Amino acid sequence: MILATAGSAVGLGNIWRFPYTAGENGGAAFILINLAFVFLIGVPAMVAEFVVGRSARTNAARAYRTSGGSSVWTVTGYIGILASTIILGFYSVVAGWCLQYLYAAIVGDVTGDSAYVARYFSEFSSKPFLPICWALLFLFLTHLVVRRGVRHGIERAAKLMMPALFVLLLILVIASCSLPGASEGITFLFHPDFSKVTTTTLFEAMGQAFFSLSLGCCCLCTYASYFSRKEHLVRSAAQVAIIDALVAILAGLMIFPAAFAVGVQPDSGPSLVFITLPNVFHQAFSSVPVVGHVISILFYALLTLAALTSTISMHEIGTAFVHEEFKTTRGKGAWIITGVCAVIGVLSSLSMGAVDGLTVGGKNLLDFFDDFTSQILLPVGGMLTCLYVGWRMPKKVVRNELTNDGTLHGRFYGIFLVAVRYVCPSFILIIFLHQSGLI
Ligand code: TRP
Repeated sequence: MILATAGSAVGLGNIWRFPYTAGENGGAAFILINLAFVFLIGVPAMVAEFVVGRSARTNAARAYRTSGGSSVWTVTGYIGILASTIILGFYSVVAGWCLQYLYAAIVGDVTGDSAYVARYFSEFSSKPFLPICWALLFLFLTHLVVRRGVRHGIERAAKLMMPALFVLLLILVIASCSLPGASEGITFLFHPDFSKVTTTTLFEAMGQAFFSLSLGCCCLCTYASYFSRKEHLVRSAAQVAIIDALVAILAGLMIFPAAFAVGVQPDSGPSLVFITLPNVFHQAFSSVPVVGHVISILFYALLTLAALTSTISMHEIGTAFVHEEFKTTRGKGAWIITGVCAVIGVLSSLSMGAVDGLTVGGKNLLDFFDDFTSQILLPVGGMLTCLYVGWRMPKKVVRNELTNDGTLHGRFYGIFLVAVRYVCPSFILIIFLHQSGLI
């Protein structure tokens, strides 16, 4: 289950979202701030979710009700279920793009000059049907794994996919860093320029940390309900955060050196992976065409695997909830979640250009859902979870979870309590107030 948790954390958030957000926010400085959030807020908040989930051993909404004794906290569970369902909806669209690019890489469709590659993306993503078909196919794949249940579906999938993912990533990092001119990309990644840091940078770095760690929407709480009582929660949280940060940095090392080597802008936004990389592969490996072909197939296979281990975790939150709360079979619960996500996915996909007017505040629905969930719902969910564990849960339960019923020394207990009572909630609140212009 720990591997599955790492699989949930490592996903498009690391490989698609992290590089383009870092690219837009000046590179190294953003990465440092993001890492600070991951370890200062992320790890304690993650342990807090583990505590709620493992002590209650049930779905997100009921977990907060059972151990808190008050229905007010159930809201935290509902926020999580809402956030994860919305995220799964738009995430399936991006994952569907990965499937299309995997297909295109195999048949050699996406190789051409930069204008062609850019046109390819905008034409494909604004088509009405094709991207929707891929998104629905991806959602259905997720559905199949989740329906098979935790032991047979999720654990087996994670066991196979995580190591494969790591190996693929390493191959690509080596390929990218050995390109002529790659050093500029490495400098961009590791030399912070704090003059580029604004309030929004902080806000984005926090959103990215929550999104990437799968935090704030009871995903970890749901997974922790399947943890064994022997699992060391603090150590597990630290391990997941380290793996997640490592994969994000490796993804940066894979994308930026190659991008700089062929003169692609690092701040090209959500399309960074999809518009620039095929171009990068094509140009960088043009003298050895077979290698370029193989590498691009590997890359999109990697992206698809990473996305699948994450979508499984998002799907599981809602499925466990419907299955347990409405007393349906697991299969029926899974279908309901798949159906709702399909609607959100179709709308997000159509907002990419096929249908005009699917916008909120000037952003297309996909971007809106992304920002709204990662920057608002997840930090709010994370803050409530910290407050809940810090102030509301019986101290005995929290202590038992941190010390595995007294079998571990309680070294982290005191620090953890200070973190979830004061440090995390006030950090999150300050950033919210700062972003909204109040302080
Ligand atoms: N963390 C995953 C990624 O980096 C995405 C993800 C999976 C997620 N489960 C989540 C994000 C729950 C928020 C909440 O791609």
